[in-house]
Amino acid sequence: MKTTDVLIIGSGIAGATAALKLAQDNPARHIILINRASEAEESNSRWAQGGIIHRGADDSAELLEKDILAAGAGASLPAAARLLAEEGPHRLEEILFAAVPIGFERDARGELAYSQEAAHSRRRILYVGDGTGAAIMQGLIAAVRRLPNIEILTDATAVDLITFPHHARDPLATYAPVACYGAYVFDRKGKAIHRTLARKTILATGGLGRLYRNTTNPPGSRGDGLAMAHRAGAKIINAEYVQFHPTALAAPGAEGFLISEAVRGEGGILLTPEGQPFMQKYDPQWRDLAPRDVVARAIHTEMETRGYSYVLLDLASHMAAEAIRARFPNIYAECLRVGVDISREPIPVVPAAHYFCGGAQVDLNGRTNIANLYAVGEVSCTGLHGANRLASTSLLEGLVWGGRAAEDILVSEPGRLPTREEIPAWDESGLTQESDPALIAGDMQTIQNIMWHYVGLVRNGERLSRAIRELRHLQNEIEMFYRATKLSDGLIGLRNAVEVALLIAEAARHNRQSRGCHFREDAVSGGDRLL
Ligand code: SIN
Repeated sequence: MKTTDVLIIGSGIAGATAALKLAQDNPARHIILINRASEAEESNSRWAQGGIIHRGADDSAELLEKDILAAGAGASLPAAARLLAEEGPHRLEEILFAAVPIGFERDARGELAYSQEAAHSRRRILYVGDGTGAAIMQGLIAAVRRLPNIEILTDATAVDLITFPHHARDPLATYAPVACYGAYVFDRKGKAIHRTLARKTILATGGLGRLYRNTTNPPGSRGDGLAMAHRAGAKIINAEYVQFHPTALAAPGAEGFLISEAVRGEGGILLTPEGQPFMQKYDPQWRDLAPRDVVARAIHTEMETRGYSYVLLDLASHMAAEAIRARFPNIYAECLRVGVDISREPIPVVPAAHYFCGGAQVDLNGRTNIANLYAVGEVSCTGLHGANRLASTSLLEGLVWGGRAAEDILVSEPGRLPTREEIPAWDESGLTQESDPALIAGDMQTIQNIMWHYVGLVRNGERLSRAIRELRHLQNEIEMFYRATKLSDGLIGLRNAVEVALLIAEAARHNRQSRGCHFREDAVSGGDRLL
């Protein structure tokens, strides 16, 4: 058993920022930062290519807020958009210029260089080649490692939040509001489950793209945090809004590899396999730089109606080969590895699940409806992204809400630490069955196929009902298996994945209006940007 002042589950940009701020501002406070992966740097944030919003020339907080609200298709919370637009650039300067200096690209005069992405009215995105997330995570985790009051635990999968009254031995806990006191954590190497008791807990587990057959997300993005929050009684909102990135590489051996929107920002144009541009038909004003939901659906429509298995993204005709290699070194190298030279030929692309715009509802300080429990980053829903996230807002949201959650904890009452006697240890006695990796992989693939075909880019009531029936059946099977089997990381993830898949499918069936990235071909009325 471990105890700590603050348990942070997930060490992407939001979790690492919160840890850094808490530890720097109060060296007496002990923080445990956990990650299910073997490296603390591993997270969705690490794979972000495009960049992070700052403030460009001729730019203002008002203009950014306007772009966020427009991309969010009328469902973004204005207060959250205003907060990010006003506070974001200062947070970025405080953390990524001053505390953890990141080598953002500069122009020939030494001024910060800003890139362009879809639905932004200004060039305002700072970047490090096409590996911005990796550069930021390397810097942040190195800074976190230098702080002695942060204990980093890797290969550590959170199983469930410890909440009262649910886990309390004292029957009188029933009369108090629901409160969180840490988590049960599975040590993947030692194969044991430990209680990690905490005064405050921050969920920062990232997203859920791995619930879909095609995704840009790394293996850990399977909705763990969202499922834990849901089981604990946190309010989950906007679960139908799963954003698909329009351009993931469609080449054997590199499926799902992200081709950054910055490629279109630098002039890349989408073409049919016959070489015809098509985005002017779908959005005459923004064309290839239309909001993500519009571009992803346009590609889907072209593929469905014409039977294409991919479309093309042509940068080579619009940018010199040398400039392409310098601006997009990782994309160039990965495409070349699978036989596509992006400096000479167009890239085959398809849409793929990319970002979850919903999550555990939080306020402007990252507080959930459960006492002592915060959520930051992709697992949370601040309302910022509404029905469709504006590109490159996610890293900044992680910085802003990670920082604000830490500050809220620093000024709040420290909270109570329960004793070990108050909370039962995890009990696996009597369980002899080891989990079967083939069974887990098979069920996971079933979930991914159901989500891709029935809860994907284009939805209708019939497909959603079918998905719900199949997922419920699978959930019953998985739950029986879970109760009879020794825990493993795969089993924890599978149980979470089916729970979260159901949350998404049910929210999508309930919402009969098309809006942003939730598109129903049988929409009743309302919504906007219908193709
Ligand atoms: C990209 O580089 O296209 C991804 C950026 C983002 O998801 O915000």
